[in-house]
Amino acid sequence: MLRGEMRVLGIETSCDETAASVVDETGVVSDVVHSQQVHAAYGGVVPELAARAHVERLGGVVARAMREAGMVRPDAVAATAGPGLIGAVLCGLSWAKALALGFGVPFIAVNHLEGHLLSPLLENPAPTWPFLALVVSGGHTTLYRCTGLGQYVVLTETVDDAAGEAYDKVARMLGLGYPGGPLVDRLAADGNPESLSLPRPEAAGGNWSFSGLKTAVRTHLQRPDRASDADVCAAFQAATVDVLLDRVMRAAEHTGIRTLCLAGGVAANSALRTRAAALDLAVFLPPRHRCTDNGAMIAHAGRLHLLCGRTTPLDGGAQPGWAVGT
Ligand code: KG4
Ligand code: ZN
Repeated sequence: MLRGEMRVLGIETSCDETAASVVDETGVVSDVVHSQQVHAAYGGVVPELAARAHVERLGGVVARAMREAGMVRPDAVAATAGPGLIGAVLCGLSWAKALALGFGVPFIAVNHLEGHLLSPLLENPAPTWPFLALVVSGGHTTLYRCTGLGQYVVLTETVDDAAGEAYDKVARMLGLGYPGGPLVDRLAADGNPESLSLPRPEAAGGNWSFSGLKTAVRTHLQRPDRASDADVCAAFQAATVDVLLDRVMRAAEHTGIRTLCLAGGVAANSALRTRAAALDLAVFLPPRHRCTDNGAMIAHAGRLHLLCGRTTPLDGGAQPGWAVGT
């Protein structure tokens, strides 16, 4: 097999997106994402419903990704093995292993966070190593120093809620619906961030803490003279972006690394994108649809590992708490 011909099918099912994609040396060849709607009524992802919905959709999503890529047989199959909801992860993982076995091609287990972290490399222009990577999602908020494939050091992380989780909880307090991030983002555009004052919490070691910010919003909402929903969203968003980018700039100064990559669902946020782009750094932002969960980032990360000769035995299990970086 020629290296350049390696077409990798990637499958992502760690949470509430059923996604599959084909990536080759030219980039993304096909990219199919089905976002599960079943959770909206519950205000959050229901793990058992997520797993069932993955099982129902996976066949169709994978077949479409292969059809759109004009491919009958991939050169390798990659899938998210963690972190994520165990039942959901197992659906895509088992599917991918069965395909790899059936096609007689290698299988690569991919860490979902590494998929996000490497996703800016899929774009043109792509960042070059070393870079800082801010991975902000519904389950994680971590700043990494990245010096090469698999070489990641955690510089800053949240000690409680993830940024996306805080967005979702604020949206729930305001009765906006789920997932809350895009809804708060939209409403914030019509609000005045100065209309209420929210804290900029900092945990020990310069780490993030978002639960205090979320509680400050809840306390404010109990006041009879509370600000409008749009103003609350704008103030919450301003505080979130302030603390995220404050630690990024500290890390840039401390490490001397002037390249920043943003990834994960919250990297789709308008204010974060605008303010990050204005930093005195070389900033790489995937398009919005590649910030939220997708199969392309998994196929891409799997392909990079495959090119280094790394594959996974078929008896490798799901790793729901799989950490990235040291
Ligand atoms: O990366 P992702 O799709 O899934 C996880 O790995 O968690 O991230 C989902 C998170 C959710 O919390 C969602 O509310 C948040 O990303 N999100 C946003 C925006 N779009 C998605 N948060 C703020 N602004 C957005 N535009
Ligand atoms: Zn994710």
